[in-house]
Amino acid sequence: MRIIFFAGKGGVGKTSVAAATGVKTAEAGHRTVVMSLDVAHSLADIFDLDRGLIDEDRGSLTRIGKNLWIQELDIQEEIEKNWGDIHKYLSTLLNTTGLDEILAEELAILPGMEEVSLLLHINRYVRTKKFDVILLDCAPTGESLRFISIPTTLDWYIKKIFKIEKTVARYARPLAKRLYDVPLPGEDYFDAIEFLFKRLRGVDKILVDPEITTVRLITNPEKIVLKETQRAFMYFSLYKMSIDGIIMNRILPDDAGEAYFKDWRKSQKGYIRQAKAYFSPIPLFPVNLFRGEVLGMDSLRDLADQIYGERDPLNRFFKGEPYSFVKVNGKYQLRVKLPFIGKGDVELNKVSDELIIRVGSFKRHFVLPRQVAASDSVKARLDGEFLSVHFGS
Ligand SMILES: Nc1ncnc2c1ncn2[C@@H]1O[C@H](COP(=O)(O)OP(=O)(O)O)[C@@H](O)[C@H]1O
Ligand SMILES: [Mg+2]
Repeated sequence: MRIIFFAGKGGVGKTSVAAATGVKTAEAGHRTVVMSLDVAHSLADIFDLDRGLIDEDRGSLTRIGKNLWIQELDIQEEIEKNWGDIHKYLSTLLNTTGLDEILAEELAILPGMEEVSLLLHINRYVRTKKFDVILLDCAPTGESLRFISIPTTLDWYIKKIFKIEKTVARYARPLAKRLYDVPLPGEDYFDAIEFLFKRLRGVDKILVDPEITTVRLITNPEKIVLKETQRAFMYFSLYKMSIDGIIMNRILPDDAGEAYFKDWRKSQKGYIRQAKAYFSPIPLFPVNLFRGEVLGMDSLRDLADQIYGERDPLNRFFKGEPYSFVKVNGKYQLRVKLPFIGKGDVELNKVSDELIIRVGSFKRHFVLPRQVAASDSVKARLDGEFLSVHFGS
């Protein structure tokens, strides 16, 4: 079983690269599914398929060739299927607070619900061994990064909040009914959360197991795109997901429009050099801008050949550990690989057995092992691209 995420900014070539990889792995005899989570679905289009066929059974698996399936997740449908009672409660809640019913239903879609749906699918496909290869065409980086924090957030929520909330709701319900118009969540709501959590169980382990899951970042040789790639790199590292390749797409070949594109080529060369330096030792896969758009099986196969050459796309092109606990002079240190951030950007908080590392708007709860949970002094220092957290007493 192999899972590969293709992530990057909008328009860099995620869908093309994910599809091209799928063509290759399917032809090599692996049962492959390419799944898309981008609301602007273009998987079917890039394979040059008849849109009508796909739209007919939106959201479901469609076999498009030998060993090859695609699935464009339909958010509305996923939410109805997976979030039924939770969504129902939230929209009733919003509705009773005076919101229009339709608006309430819209608003009751929590950020993260669609990502959880994706994780549910992954988990099910892994458990049922339906596929050998799952390729994920992610939503543009800003949004697609949220899903990585979901398993830990849910875990945390269930452990710390859920049990208390459930007990409180049970005892407060009869009283609250008389006092307020706002309904408290019923048993259905809690059961639904519990059921959801059950189906998610284990997916966090799958995501951070580098033998199974790796991330490939798609980027272009342009300043703003590269910057976003660095940010994505950092977040994936923080969440312990293993990045095994940077795909540098849309490089202008030397003979492209000699005069007109001269400056473009020059600046691209500079950014490619920079990118190699940043991401080293993770390999960079250069890909030229094609003469035309990438469309249909043949051009996808060409794209895959450009990316991987003779290499097997299922290889793990880089193996490294984004974070680890080490013992130095009898004291523990947590080393987290956080490339590309300055000291000011990291915020540390320790609350009993939890360490909260905040980087920008992202947050990660580490439930600390017993050995370090008791220490009352926590200091952090940036060593190159490692954040080392020192636990003392
Ligand atoms: N190397 C390339 N050469 C030419 N066209 C490309 C290349 N990579 C992607 N494209 C084209 O660029 C457009 C955007 O690519 P796409 O894979 O949909 O990006 P994303 O999924 O990241 O938004 C598509 O029309 C695709 O055919
Ligand atoms: Mg796309």
